[in-house]
Amino acid sequence: MKLLRLGAPGEERPAVLDSDGRTYDISGLTRDIDGPFLAGGGVENEEADMNRHDDSDARIGECAPMRELSGLKALVTGGASGIGLATARLLAARGADVAVLDLDPSAVPEPLRGYRADVADDNTVRTAVDAAASDLAGIDIVVNNAGIGAVGTIEDDDDGQWHRVFDVNVMGVVRTTRAALPHLRASSHAALVNVCSIAATAGLPQRALYSASKGAVQSLTLAMAADHVREGIRVNCVNPGTADTPWVGRLLDQAADPAAERSALNARQPLGRLISADEVAAAIVYLASPAAASVTGAALAVDGGMQGLRLRPAGQ
Ligand SMILES: NC(=O)c1ccc[n+]([C@@H]2O[C@H](COP(=O)([O-])OP(=O)(O)OC[C@H]3O[C@@H](n4cnc5c(N)ncnc54)[C@H](O)[C@@H]3O)[C@@H](O)[C@H]2O)c1
Repeated sequence: MKLLRLGAPGEERPAVLDSDGRTYDISGLTRDIDGPFLAGGGVENEEADMNRHDDSDARIGECAPMRELSGLKALVTGGASGIGLATARLLAARGADVAVLDLDPSAVPEPLRGYRADVADDNTVRTAVDAAASDLAGIDIVVNNAGIGAVGTIEDDDDGQWHRVFDVNVMGVVRTTRAALPHLRASSHAALVNVCSIAATAGLPQRALYSASKGAVQSLTLAMAADHVREGIRVNCVNPGTADTPWVGRLLDQAADPAAERSALNARQPLGRLISADEVAAAIVYLASPAAASVTGAALAVDGGMQGLRLRPAGQ
């Protein structure tokens, strides 16, 4: 059995295709589905409306209307751009009610709810988390994604800059999680995902401060996973390689030769290209979802093979 769509664009109805090539309208069974449909998926309830349709207008091969997060409430820091925005959108597409905390949430698209907060400021974090928890009627999922970069060796940044990056990248995780913990404890599906980095696990040049902060995030992920596992709260992190986000766009803009810099970043990852924000979001949403109910204390690399692979030069 395959799921597919019948009908004219804008008036499509979900249907199933059986192994004999017959199609059956199942719109009466799936009225709440508003996304695209799964190809190749099974259909458990075969008591569908068996109206036959010519399947000449069927479109097979679209992706799944996975709404496995329906009823769950999610909070994403730094959700107004890049990986955070892609994650917030995917959580919402999977059925979650999503709050975005950001320095500037003014352009956050519906159905996401935007809350202004600076993760370096405990008061704004507590106020925003409380407001989000009240509006959403709880919090089940927290994605600690807000972060800032730093370029240079340990000689290049002064103490103030070291404090600033740790304040956002590490203490931001602490503040947001601390404010959300009472709500997570009340959830029967509590999951935290921290956005870490390949910089936590590989020595990258000119990234001393940033790498140290992300190394702290990875260690903190493990400690938090241990502290909260018996409260039913899972804690994991995702380690992206270089991802094609506005952040990296800004870095490229500052390079003497942006095209050459992009090529160098592409070549550094064995897949030969940057990671997309959507690819990182998919990993985050997996770790936050019931599908990962047995996963805690894990670091999931989404880095095009950069951490784990050791390739010979091309052609050799
Ligand atoms: N882009 C990459 O290559 C890459 C690679 C590995 C890890 N990461 C990590 O992914 C996360 C997101 O990166 P991105 O590339 O999507 O960045 P981005 O700059 O596109 O988005 C970051 C978002 O965080 C918000 N933000 C920054 N400081 C904040 C603060 N103090 N309080 C609240 N919000 C704040 C920004 O307003 C922005 O909306 C970061 O933690 C980053 O370290 C990025």
